[in-house]
Amino acid sequence: GPDPREPLWELHGTVAEYFQRQLWDTPAGAEARAYLASREVSRATAERFGLGYAPRDLNALREHLRGLGVPEERAIAAGILVHREEGDEIRPRFRDRLMFPILEQGGKVVAFGGRLLGPGEPKYLNSAESEIFSKGKVLYNLGAARNAIRREDRVVIVEGYFDALRLVDAGVEHVVAPMGTALGEGQAELLSRFTKHAVLLYDSDGPGQKATFRASDVLLAKGFEVRVVTLPEGEDPDTFVRAKGIAGIAPLIEQAMDVFDRKVQLLQRAGWFNDLQHKRRALDRLLPTIRAASDPITRDLYLARAAEAAGIAREVLLQELHAVRRGT
Ligand code: UTP
Ligand code: MN
Ligand code: MN
Ligand code: MN
Ligand code: MN
Repeated sequence: GPDPREPLWELHGTVAEYFQRQLWDTPAGAEARAYLASREVSRATAERFGLGYAPRDLNALREHLRGLGVPEERAIAAGILVHREEGDEIRPRFRDRLMFPILEQGGKVVAFGGRLLGPGEPKYLNSAESEIFSKGKVLYNLGAARNAIRREDRVVIVEGYFDALRLVDAGVEHVVAPMGTALGEGQAELLSRFTKHAVLLYDSDGPGQKATFRASDVLLAKGFEVRVVTLPEGEDPDTFVRAKGIAGIAPLIEQAMDVFDRKVQLLQRAGWFNDLQHKRRALDRLLPTIRAASDPITRDLYLARAAEAAGIAREVLLQELHAVRRGT
């Protein structure tokens, strides 16, 4: 029989088109159009990503769907409309937001991410998990990027929607985003069908650095070679590429540093290899990453690098690697 998820895919497609018309063809979309212009996103690029606008109006989408004969329970099950117990009210989940459709690899819309046009919380609201959307199995832009990923034999991973959009706009098409959540095993598995070379290009702030190293362990475990780009303090790929263009970002991607070298460099700069006690702790930081590497050659190179940085015998480190299984 027909796939029971079919109506949900169809509904998301319908709603994506509705949001697009709201953005481009209505007075209510004017503020969102101005917002895009203020972020230097062209109409062509916005259309390429299928961007739209969810109006503030409480009833418009509901009435539109009713007019199309979409059962209300379906729109609620899909998370497009929300049934609130108080007052027995039915409202749209997304209101007054710039809408990014999230596509699965085959090109079907399975969810949305919506950004506020001004300050407020949450800055982005994403669709809830549903029968057709599970966060850990979707990567933003993967469907559009996969041929480029194969061709380049490399994937650039950024944090969010605008970063991916900006890179594609600048001509870096082999880019995906886990949309702010930690890169999961399922997502790394998806990517590994297309390449085993990843470049992490995250925001240059504390959370971005943490997320970089967490993602790298996940990728190393799937046998990836992992490189990292460190942007100047306070930048993310969107702001950086907007200011410096492809000429600014291309060499950084080209010369991206191996993630283990980057870790060692950070520990060295912090002086952790200068005295015994810190050396111990530095090695505790490095061992989990050495263990994470599933590729034996990579693992051996990391081991040698760590031994060299700490000035200890490689055999000792190797024993440590096998003996104590912390942080796994
Ligand atoms: P950031 O906070 O770095 O946002 O989160 P951003 O993409 O740079 O946002 P702009 O440039 O201010 O518009 C990175 C990604 O994390 C997810 C989004 O996918 C976002 O693109 N995120 C962030 C959420 O899902 N919810 C949030 O409240 C914030
Ligand atoms: Mn290769
Ligand atoms: Mn951030
Ligand atoms: Mn950011
Ligand atoms: Mn940003």
